[in-house]
Amino acid sequence: MAKRRSAEWYAGSDRNAYIHRAWMRRGLDDNAFDGRPHVAIANTASDLTPCNAHLDEVMHSVKEGVFEAGGVALNLPVVSLGETQVRPTAMLWRNMAAMATEEMIRANPIDGVVLLGGCDKTIPSLLMAAASVDLPSVVVPGGPMKTGTFQGVPLGCGTDVWRLSEETRGGTLSQEQFLRSESSMISSRGHCNTMGTASTMALVTEALGMTIPGIAGTSAVDSRLLEKSHETGRFIVEMIDAGRRPSDIISSGSFHNAIVTLAAVGGSTNAVVHLLAIAGRLNIELTLDDFDRIGSRVPLLVNLQPAGRFLMDDFQRAGGLLSVLREVKDLLDPDALTVTGRPLVSYLDDAQIWDLDVISRRDSPLAQEAGVAVLRGNLAPTGAVIKPAAASPDLLRHRGKALVFDSIEDMHARIDDPTLDVDADSVLVLRGCGPRGYPGMPEVANMPLPKKILEMGIRDMVRICDGRMSGTAYGTVVLHVSPEAAAGGPLGLVQTGDYITLDVPGRTLTLEVSDEELNGRRPSVAMQEAFAKPDRGWEHLYVQHVLQADSGADLDFLRGSSGDQVTRESH
Ligand code: FES
Repeated sequence: MAKRRSAEWYAGSDRNAYIHRAWMRRGLDDNAFDGRPHVAIANTASDLTPCNAHLDEVMHSVKEGVFEAGGVALNLPVVSLGETQVRPTAMLWRNMAAMATEEMIRANPIDGVVLLGGCDKTIPSLLMAAASVDLPSVVVPGGPMKTGTFQGVPLGCGTDVWRLSEETRGGTLSQEQFLRSESSMISSRGHCNTMGTASTMALVTEALGMTIPGIAGTSAVDSRLLEKSHETGRFIVEMIDAGRRPSDIISSGSFHNAIVTLAAVGGSTNAVVHLLAIAGRLNIELTLDDFDRIGSRVPLLVNLQPAGRFLMDDFQRAGGLLSVLREVKDLLDPDALTVTGRPLVSYLDDAQIWDLDVISRRDSPLAQEAGVAVLRGNLAPTGAVIKPAAASPDLLRHRGKALVFDSIEDMHARIDDPTLDVDADSVLVLRGCGPRGYPGMPEVANMPLPKKILEMGIRDMVRICDGRMSGTAYGTVVLHVSPEAAAGGPLGLVQTGDYITLDVPGRTLTLEVSDEELNGRRPSVAMQEAFAKPDRGWEHLYVQHVLQADSGADLDFLRGSSGDQVTRESH
């Protein structure tokens, strides 16, 4: 057997090995240093990431599995991001969490790692880190919360916040009822139970091959999550012995499968940015156009909020991810592997659909073409995305006059102004919300509709933004416009009153202003003043180095691999 990585710290009789062992003898005895594998459990449990607060219990189940298989399990708390809590936006900190986790995996005497995530940015940051270090790794998704109800009706966590808030602003729900729904929204431990970013990333991670098959989507309150966590603990020891690393598992075919999955389940547009970033860590060529090329011909099979009706409890009851993938098996890459060393497709034959209202068969899909559409044109030279399944069909081809907001503050200040010059055909444009401009690319693209429009009974308009949209949100929203206004993109040159044409079937986004006139325009002063100009700390580093959305918004110097070798000692 080849020498383990951890033995580079613990083996031998010199002073350094003595020090490394001695300080770990708080619970570990000689057996721990006899060459058995040491497994870190990268744990994003935090009281300030309430969706992940239960992961300490999951960690203990993983630990039991590792010890049972003859390994040594070590809890490694890592940077955690509570999507609803951290300012200005969790996305600003995704790369920081990924960088910190990468360095802690590299720095410590471990042979493999189990990654515990859940809330939106936690699984992406863990996967980015693990991909760069490339030690044997496996993810345990923390699972969605159970369904809560309000006035006898199920509440979709996240999605129904937008809906109830719009109804209150539109006058069809009282303020008192709105506030009463608050304590029903979050019904248990676990992440959002719609097909938002957390659910999407869990499913997409399984499709990438980075979980034991069949775990993603298991509810945070389901005892089977602990059972599968235990199994994952046993399993990482096997992976270490087999020397199976992320670079052996994740291939172009894995991303192909992830994109098919993203489309078939009607997943969040945020997965586009995260998958591009993970691919960048592995030096796998993945482009925005691959999402359209591979995903847009995939049928939508899952009827979950925000695009549909049901919630993750229903999804699991109806058969879960493997039953969806069985329906689209012919679209999957047959060779793409999982952490077990077997192809993903080899796990699909026994999967069954138990409720056709929740998961449709291939021959009667909810929509023939799901996935993410990638738009280009003089308003988005390097691309923008839209999720047609979450948009209003009658707005997918639309021409209207731009109503421009120079910043999120500008939008909040004016959106409900009764004198706002807006009608149902207007195209709302919000800029200064990209990776560099905000900074951190917040989830604000699904901006609220003007009150006067809501009062007309209208619930959707075309909106265009260089930011992101919550995976739990819906609407005809063109987002991730690249380059962003703060990077000199033409979005910064749009003026209120310009005509914009959106043509989703034709995949174009056009500002009806001549090149000549556009070249003569200068960005508005108000917009430039609103751009972030951080002069210290992480934000400063981030703004200097962040890539645009079409490249995954990672930092330019974090792409590629760091490897697991650190040659110098601390003493
Ligand atoms: Fe944590 Fe939605 S806020 S998953």
